[in-house]
Formats: sequence, structure tokens, C-alpha cells
Amino acid sequence: MNGMPTALITGGTSGIGLALAQRLAGGHCLVLTGRGDGAGLPVDALFVKADLSRPEEAVETVASALRSAGVSSLSKLILNAGTGTYAQADAEDAATIRRTLDVNLVASVLMAHRLAPLLEEGRGRLVLIGSVAHRGSANMPSYAASKAGLTGLARSLRAEWDGRIGVQIIHPGPTRTPMHEKAGYDPGGLEKMFFSADAMADEVARLMETGRPGATVIFGARIRRLLTGKPS
Ligand SMILES: NC(=O)c1ccc[n+]([C@@H]2O[C@H](COP(=O)([O-])OP(=O)(O)OC[C@H]3O[C@@H](n4cnc5c(N)ncnc54)[C@H](OP(=O)(O)O)[C@@H]3O)[C@@H](O)[C@H]2O)c1
Repeated sequence: MNGMPTALITGGTSGIGLALAQRLAGGHCLVLTGRGDGAGLPVDALFVKADLSRPEEAVETVASALRSAGVSSLSKLILNAGTGTYAQADAEDAATIRRTLDVNLVASVLMAHRLAPLLEEGRGRLVLIGSVAHRGSANMPSYAASKAGLTGLARSLRAEWDGRIGVQIIHPGPTRTPMHEKAGYDPGGLEKMFFSADAMADEVARLMETGRPGATVIFGARIRRLLTGKPS
């Protein structure tokens, strides 16, 4: 890897994560994780295949890939990978609930702990991608619970890592990505109101620059984009 700071994005193969990777590409060495083979990614990156529904194994795979590539510091660890199911509370079986919690929450806790020394070395920052659903949302109970868990994780790590590693949590509002179809949710005409993945990544990148500990990207951001003539 060259002399640029390194940013790692989990779930960097699709949607918001990929759009964010494209924004960071100019000034960072990128490490992207996903479940596929990483073929055809439109950015230059070290790709690490790791299934976060098996969190312990995935975190070891990522740590070992970084070691092999000689990455000893991180300027950004963006825990963005996410999954969920659109279902009523009593319609999710235990395996589905566990998968959502493992990918969104358990893997994030383990990854943050495992890679903290690299963040400290790089005077870096952990960025958790939450969701507006962290406040609770009908028909996505496990997903909402996992994102509420990330809020607690951000607060805890901020206290624990105070002065050593920055911690941010950014909660995107509805965004047009493949996630909705994967979750079994058809937003219908509502989708027109959603942010594009590019617009959401612009907002996330802007918020990362501010260093604010927590932020939600919803209507204020849309209004700002309309006022500045940027498409949402
Ligand atoms: N879209 C929205 O409306 C919205 C709103 C609020 C928050 N968010 C959050 O934003 C983040 C990005 O979501 P997105 O909308 O960009 O969705 P997306 O396009 O479906 O991308 C999700 C990413 O997570 C990865 N991922 C999913 N399950 C995984 C697993 N088991 N192991 C490893 N990687 C896995 C996916 O990799 P594969 O390609 O291998 O599946 C993909 O790269 C998520 O945390 C999501 O909860 C999204």
C-alpha cells in the first residue's frame, strides 16, 4: 500500500458503502469487505471476502488480510455492512434474528475491538453506519434493535477510547440501494422520495469531515441539497 492513509469499509461492494468508497478513493488506500469475490469493483481497493454472519471468523479474516498486506494503521474504519428483514415481530425466526444481529451488531463490536490498535496507530476514527430505524420502526424489529445497539456501542467506545480514537455514528434515512429488495420490502412510489446512494454518501462524507459524534441524514439534508442545486 502507498503512503496514503488507509480506510476500511465493510459492505463496500454495494449501495452507500460503495458510493462512499468512490468518494474516499482519491485520498485513501481502500480496503473493502463483502461476501462476493470483489470482481468488477469500480475502485482500486484491497478486497477482503468475509461473511459477517459468522462474526468471529470474519473479523479474523479481515485482521489477517490487513496483516498480510502490511497495513498497520487505519485512518477510518467504517462499519457499514448491514442486513435486515422486513417482517412483523412474530414473523422472524430465531435464525433470521441472529443473522441480523450478527452482521449489524456482533460483527461491529468484534471488529471495533479487534482493529482498535490499528485505529490508535493511525490516529483514526471509527464510523458506525446506523439507521433512522434505531429509534424503532414498524416491521423491522431486529434491524431496529441492531441499530439501537450500535448507538449504545458508539457511546460506550467514545467513553472508553476518549482522547485516543474518535467515534462517530451516522444514521442514514431511506436510500435507494439493493438493501430494500434483499430485505423483502417494496417501497413502491415512496422510493422516489429516497436519497440516491450517491447523495447519501455525499452527506456521510461531509459529516465525517465535521467529526460530529452523531448525526442523522434526513430531510434537512434534502432541503440543503435542493437549495444548492444538487440532485438527491
Ligand atoms: N438503504 C437504506 O435505506 C438505509 C437506511 C438506513 C441505513 N442504512 C444502512 O446503510 C448501510 C449500507 O446499506 P445499503 O443500503 O448500502 O445496502 P446494500 O446496498 O445492500 O449494501 C449492504 C452491504 O453490506 C454487505 N453485507 C450484507 N450482509 C453481509 C454479510 N453477511 N457479510 C458481509 N457483508 C454483508 C453487502 O455485501 P454483499 O454484497 O456481499 O451482500 C453490501 O456490501 C447498512 O448498514 C444499512 O443498514 C441503509
